[in-house]
Amino acid sequence: MNASIRPLCAIWNSSIGKKYLVALTGLVLVLFLAGHLSGNLLIFVGQEAFDEYAKFLHTMLHGAGVWIARIILLACLVIHIAATIALTRQNAKASPKYEHEKTIQASRSSRIMIISGLTILAFVVYHLLHFTVRVDSDLAEIAKVSPYQMVIRGFSNGIVVLFYVIAMSLLCSHLSHGVQSIFQTLGLRSKKSASLISFISKAYALVILLGFLSIPVAIYIFNYGR
Ligand code: HEM
Repeated sequence: MNASIRPLCAIWNSSIGKKYLVALTGLVLVLFLAGHLSGNLLIFVGQEAFDEYAKFLHTMLHGAGVWIARIILLACLVIHIAATIALTRQNAKASPKYEHEKTIQASRSSRIMIISGLTILAFVVYHLLHFTVRVDSDLAEIAKVSPYQMVIRGFSNGIVVLFYVIAMSLLCSHLSHGVQSIFQTLGLRSKKSASLISFISKAYALVILLGFLSIPVAIYIFNYGR
């Protein structure tokens, strides 16, 4: 085997290695959400600020910046999912027939993580088609003039807004458990800090939920920007 890929195989073949991969890629995705939310909230500053921000994203590093970010995000997403699937399979094989209460609890919570994770994945695919690829030709035309107006128009449909609300709620559930797990895997959670870490994870998930929800809700229910 090529010496340069041997350490990568060793990481993948060990259970703790895969757990680290899930945690580190999860951390990148968690940080992306904070950045994405901060940028999106510029919608409340106004059209000029939001459109300037969208233009900056597409022109930074002569247009290469957005592609570098996309490649990193995609790689993190793929590794996060692949390592989770591999760990779940491994755990299913290893679990005894007669499970203890604790194991049942753990498998229930990992089932919830899988369901919320898969819904977020479906949401991301939909979201990319909605605002990045812009399969709706009307939205694509509007986006050429103003990304701000694209978002306002994009949230003028109640079904779309409902799907965003459901997906954001599951994202909140996924984050509140996932952020705690990142601390745990990286060895940053002790008995003493457990309740603080639980609070930080829940608070972060709530800020992300309310921040993202505020946009479609303000546009659809309160007619913001229309
Ligand atoms: C109300 C909530 C949201 C709004 C208004 C919003 C808005 C946008 C917009 C306008 C774009 C296109 C950027 C561009 O190409 O100019 C975008 C891209 C993207 N969004 Fe969101 N977003 C929201 C929530 C989310 C959430 C919750 C996630 C992740 C779970 C997410 C992940 C992404 C990703 C991965 C991209 C692709 C970036 C790229 O390659 O250009 N977004 N979003």
